[in-house]
Amino acid sequence: MKDKIYKTKIKELKRLVFVDLDFLNLVHTIEVVKIAKFLSKKEKADIKIVEIAALLHDVGKRYCRNIAEHHIYSAKRARQYLKDLNFDENFIDSVCNCIKSHSGLVDIFQQWAKKHDKDKKFLPVPKTIEDKVLFDADMIQQYTFFGIAKPFLSIFNQYDFEEGLKKIIYNVFRKTTKKLQTVSGRILAQKKMKQFEKYINFLLEFIYKK
Ligand SMILES: [Fe+2]
Repeated sequence: MKDKIYKTKIKELKRLVFVDLDFLNLVHTIEVVKIAKFLSKKEKADIKIVEIAALLHDVGKRYCRNIAEHHIYSAKRARQYLKDLNFDENFIDSVCNCIKSHSGLVDIFQQWAKKHDKDKKFLPVPKTIEDKVLFDADMIQQYTFFGIAKPFLSIFNQYDFEEGLKKIIYNVFRKTTKKLQTVSGRILAQKKMKQFEKYINFLLEFIYKK
């Protein structure tokens, strides 16, 4: 695909993404694209497949009945967008397989699948390196300063603050890092975790004057 045409198509996809996503998911997506491109280079994945999959990976979120099904809705919507822009069939399949293989926070997804008696096969399984890169980028975004703001919103109202922080550290970090698929993803997650721990320590010191 000639670069100029590709850039024009990306521009149009970005316009569509801006319509589909609310602010929280838009910033999430911008960060996922950035992380996914970084991991693509490290893991030698096809950067165009990963970039477009990352850009469109949550476009169905607003339109699905349950968040745990958002990967299916997003893949459907992405397929239509890419068809309308005359992307190659094989390329569309690769992008949509990537989107179908991501789950967001795996634990929330697994809890939902169990509750709804879904077969284990229903759980997204990343197979290709492009699937794995998107899967990891989506998870690692939860460890950025913006990503962390989301669980922060709930702990301010729900728990004792220190208790809530421990819950975030347990749910977001310890559980999800075990599910990461690529070596580069695990290295990047460790780096982000260290930054976050530093921030938490400053915050606790400030609040509790420890
Ligand atoms: Fe996402």
